[in-house]
Amino acid sequence: MYKSVFSELSSNFKTSYIYYDVELKNYSSMKVGGKPAALISIEEIEDLVIALQFFKNRELNIIITGKCTNMIFSNNLEKFVIISLGENFNKISVGDDSMICSAGASLQQVVRKTAEFGLSGLEWAMGIPGTIGGAIVNNSGIKNHSVNDLIEKMNVMTYSGEKNIIKPADIFPSYRTTSIKQKKNIIVIDAVFKLKKYDRISILNALNENFLIKQNTQPLKEFSAGCIFKNPAGNSAGRLIDEAGLKGYRIGGASVSVKHANFIVNDNNACFNDIIKLIELIKETVLKKFNIELELEVEIIK
Ligand code: EPU
Repeated sequence: MYKSVFSELSSNFKTSYIYYDVELKNYSSMKVGGKPAALISIEEIEDLVIALQFFKNRELNIIITGKCTNMIFSNNLEKFVIISLGENFNKISVGDDSMICSAGASLQQVVRKTAEFGLSGLEWAMGIPGTIGGAIVNNSGIKNHSVNDLIEKMNVMTYSGEKNIIKPADIFPSYRTTSIKQKKNIIVIDAVFKLKKYDRISILNALNENFLIKQNTQPLKEFSAGCIFKNPAGNSAGRLIDEAGLKGYRIGGASVSVKHANFIVNDNNACFNDIIKLIELIKETVLKKFNIELELEVEIIK
């Protein structure tokens, strides 16, 4: 439907691609989601500027995403354009005590490189899916650690195509969020991680240990979007949902993970509505039982 509208954009691109028939259920970690107007894989920064200019005054919602690991997509995505930083934004360069990582590089690739080059600081991030860009925007982390704590500076682009160098404080990182997540005003291009020189074997052992813990406590092999809810202050969403008796509770093809109750798993061809209904049911049950209102950590795109 939009093919002819986008042909002008496509002809202006140097190397980037526009895909029209992508179903996001084949692309997102939760394995749900229909066809957006287009999925654009940006391969160079000039093309990103061209795409942003093109969409400026059009009635289409732009979603910038990495690997779609923290998003749940509906079937009605005709008014959405998904922009993803492609292969050329996968670069990782390693310095004495730092790493420069492009936004499209996978966080796990970066974590593994820290062991290879003896750079300590990101051991806790072992097993967290998604890209560097996504991790920065969501301020991904575990209990006392967050990605933005380790970042010295980053190159970003505004939606008007201006490049800037900013520091994490400029995007107000807090528990699993930043101002970018709220305002959708800038796009992360790359970031410099400040790390510490350390023994390679010790880092590798820490990674293996952290991965084992994750494997034992989270449904890593199943289709999910990670933790669905933020932890309420001083509490654990997983524990609350578990104590509410909801582990294994099923709606259609989606169920509350029996391994960790803050995960919804798509274990039988779930559709978007199965997941939304289950989210609502969990929220209502926890509110009734504990008088605690759970807040979403994942982003719902509908
Ligand atoms: N618990 C239960 N039942 C469950 C799950 C957990 O009783 O089904 C209990 C555990 O036994 C433990 C407590 O709840 O006593 C906390 O559980 P856990 O250590 O698994 O940590 P969490 O608070 O549930 C957080 C992050 C995870 C991160 C782990 C790392 C949030 C919302 N979750 O989980 O992040 O991997 O710590 O330990 O901040 C994510 O952000 O997507 C995510 C999974």
